Amino acid sequence: MIGKRMLDEMNDQIKHETFSAYLYFAMAADFHAKGFDGMAEWMKVQAQEELGHALRFFHHIEERGGRIELQAIDKPQIEWESPLAAYEAALKHEEFITSRINDLVSVAREENDNAAGIMLQWFVSEQVEEEASVGKVLDMLKLIGESGHGLLMADRELGQRVAGPLTTGEEAAEAAA
Ligand SMILES: [Fe+2]
Ligand SMILES: [Fe+2]
Repeated sequence: MIGKRMLDEMNDQIKHETFSAYLYFAMAADFHAKGFDGMAEWMKVQAQEELGHALRFFHHIEERGGRIELQAIDKPQIEWESPLAAYEAALKHEEFITSRINDLVSVAREENDNAAGIMLQWFVSEQVEEEASVGKVLDMLKLIGESGHGLLMADRELGQRVAGPLTTGEEAAEAAA
């Protein structure tokens, strides 16, 4: 059974991951409103991944006999002054999530919760990838600067991103068993 301290932290993390989805949906809406349909698609895929992250915590709590306690989700910012500003905000948010995951890893260690420790390792690697993928877009946008043509090309390229299935981690664990 999951301990109280880890349970509280994971319930909290469900909120953070769901807020991440909300933030990226807000960016998608803002991009769409400004004609950046490719970036809007990219953000929708990103938001779906975040819902998958929330589900991973959800299922981990369920499997370990804990009680899910959903919390209120803040209203996200709804407008950014440029694609660059939005992706900068996305990177900042991912850095915050990385620090949250690191906190959870510390709690797992302190509470001797090996099950959570193993489950969280996936998130440690995932956050490295998340920061890298947002960072890559950011580098591209910095190179482009104010060029309308460049932004159009970037928008087309980013629109190629496709969503994978909404996985919770259980499928992968079952396939490996
Ligand atoms: Fe996430
Ligand atoms: Fe993320």
